[in-house]
Amino acid sequence: MIYHHETIFTGKEAEKALNNYLLKSASRHSSTFILTDQNTHKHCLSILSSKFRLPEHSIILEIESGEVNKNLSTCIRLWKELAAHGADRHSLLMCLGGGMLCDIGGFVASAYQRGIDCVYIPTTLLSQVDASIGGKTGVNLDKLKNYVGFYSPPKSVFIISDFLKTLPDNEMLSGYAEVVKHALLSDDKYFHNLTKQFPNYEAVRFNENWADVVERSVKIKSNVVKSDPYEHGLRKVLNLGHTVGHAFESYSLENDAVPLLHGFSVAMGLIVELKLSVWLCRFPEMLSNEIIKYILAVFPYYRFQKEEIPKITGIMNFDKKNRDGKIRLTLLKKPGDLITNVICTQELIEKSLLEYLDLADEANDLKFQS
Ligand SMILES: NC(=O)c1ccc[n+]([C@@H]2O[C@H](COP(=O)([O-])OP(=O)(O)OC[C@H]3O[C@@H](n4cnc5c(N)ncnc54)[C@H](O)[C@@H]3O)[C@@H](O)[C@H]2O)c1
Repeated sequence: MIYHHETIFTGKEAEKALNNYLLKSASRHSSTFILTDQNTHKHCLSILSSKFRLPEHSIILEIESGEVNKNLSTCIRLWKELAAHGADRHSLLMCLGGGMLCDIGGFVASAYQRGIDCVYIPTTLLSQVDASIGGKTGVNLDKLKNYVGFYSPPKSVFIISDFLKTLPDNEMLSGYAEVVKHALLSDDKYFHNLTKQFPNYEAVRFNENWADVVERSVKIKSNVVKSDPYEHGLRKVLNLGHTVGHAFESYSLENDAVPLLHGFSVAMGLIVELKLSVWLCRFPEMLSNEIIKYILAVFPYYRFQKEEIPKITGIMNFDKKNRDGKIRLTLLKKPGDLITNVICTQELIEKSLLEYLDLADEANDLKFQS
């Protein structure tokens, strides 16, 4: 199978490229659908239509935002709406939204009539630095994250900073967690530069120029994806923080009135996996403590009862990276040097979660202004 990489456009180039794409689309596509959720409909659609010449008679499809709606019922509704509007194999689906919307939109497009053209216009920091890159599409199966899906990259991704202006503070911070992860995948120097540029939550919140940070993350992620698109080896490094992070996210989705955002789950997952990296991969303990302190200063802390630990580790048993019933993690030897498939016992993960709970006193209970 050949992996066709998406073409990713960032910065000023992205606006030009989207204009060109839309011009060509007029003759290439029989109809155009723009997928939004209620927030991107409200905040992003007017920017899109004022800055770009959208095909006449574009049809707007809208889904409800929120991770709970990233499921097969939403897909079925969308497939029926596409069919009802006469979408055929030459139709185009433009996904205007965050990672949830791109994941589900990409999945819907790749299955509808065995695949129609799809492009992403990511509108959250998280989707610009991470979710829109690498071709993973899919939906959740009840509490199991991204359990059903394809590797199916969109034709192109147009990353335009203007859309970030209306993004709520908590969503901005959620995206920043993936930026921190990318820095740990890259090197010590980039991580320390970030801590200087964004020493605390306010620095992330009031930052107005994301172009360089986004560009750097896009490069880090797409270089990894290009060398291993189907996650046979190297791509697993991108899972740093995600095995534990996904377990927090799934647990929270089931148990909390306001579920934990993806990036916050990843930030907490990074703390736990840094502890495991010290124990299993000899990651320097002082540096691990420094990074954990930084994460606690920037991201909100997730509180849960000690008695819930078995439920959280239980979710990890369903992680897609496991083999032979064993939990396998991506851990760090040092920034930029990762080890994949580290087998980890449930007991050790439980110990790391207990240590995580001990950090509560240093933690940050951020109050967000959205
Ligand atoms: N495919 C991948 O490789 C990959 C990688 C990482 C994460 N993900 C997935 O991405 C999802 C998380 O992405 P996300 O954080 O972007 O979530 P999201 O798409 O749910 O968006 C977050 C919220 O922001 C709103 N929003 C989006 N753009 C806005 C804007 N410009 N202004 C105002 N509000 C806006 C949305 O309506 C939503 O309420 C998860 O489902 C996760 O599994 C996928």
